[in-house]
Amino acid sequence: MQFDYAICGTRNADVGLPAGLKILREGGSALDAVEESIKLIENNPYDITVGFNGFPNLLGTVELDASIMDGKTRQAGSIAAVRNFRHPISIARKVMEISPHVMLVGEGAEKFARALGFIEEDIIDELGIKNYHNIIEGKSLEMPQEAQTLVRELFMRFDDHLKEVMEKYAVKDWYRKLSFDKHGTTNVIALDKHNNLAVGVSTSGLAMKFPGRVGDSPLFGAGIYCSETVGAACTGTGELAIRLSTARLVVDRYERKLPLDESTRSGITDLMKIKEEGVLHILSMNNKGDCSAFTNKDGIFHFYADSNMEEPVKRLSNYINLKKK
Ligand code: GLY
Repeated sequence: MQFDYAICGTRNADVGLPAGLKILREGGSALDAVEESIKLIENNPYDITVGFNGFPNLLGTVELDASIMDGKTRQAGSIAAVRNFRHPISIARKVMEISPHVMLVGEGAEKFARALGFIEEDIIDELGIKNYHNIIEGKSLEMPQEAQTLVRELFMRFDDHLKEVMEKYAVKDWYRKLSFDKHGTTNVIALDKHNNLAVGVSTSGLAMKFPGRVGDSPLFGAGIYCSETVGAACTGTGELAIRLSTARLVVDRYERKLPLDESTRSGITDLMKIKEEGVLHILSMNNKGDCSAFTNKDGIFHFYADSNMEEPVKRLSNYINLKKK
């Protein structure tokens, strides 16, 4: 069935999708629907993984990544490790539309945003600061004691003793475990009445990441990709999607005529090639308005609405238990 328009988003997208759906219903573009939905998610102070109050890095600074891509033209724009701006998705869109580049990072991206009139502000409030200090001081109830010890050691000795701490605590392994729970990202994919697809992604990345760490979210091919016929995006452990070029893989499979579910599923089963711990959730939508979602963690859901629906509904994502294989 061909839908006039449709929109889908990750489990944290419920605060934004109704606005995106309204834009699509009124004949607006998929890009506008994606940007507006994500701006509302970035504004949500209780979402500690995207935009305002996103989880800070190890040293207490919130560094945001975001990206947006247009299916028909394959125009794309992203920013990474940007501080003090509330709407990284809108800066990413400006990178796509008016800069000569595709991706800007850190200070350069901040200069670009400032020059375009984006307002600089504190993007962490008392609640966010408290969450951060609870982890640094070992009071977080949500993190295993050993992970808190590791984070504290890294925080205290980052500048002078990083090498020793990394060796002593097998930091690589611990971050893999940390990344199981302490991350989150938003993905929104929209199809408009002109049959154009767009995908957007925004995140504060992995909690307590090293300063300067960039995940899959702003990397085209890894955490986001969109063609004329299908868009795909990821949440979860960004390092996995980067190593496997997950979003591009899903798009490519669909363009080679695999059904949408099979294409999306293959992004999860591809994880077996690297036998690494971590979670990955993939969301995709084709230019008929069908949506697919696969994950290697049980209980993950997403939201979806098409032109026959009044509002987005919650749907369970397909779980693939890779440990059983
Ligand atoms: N998937 C988001 C991140 O790893 O930064």
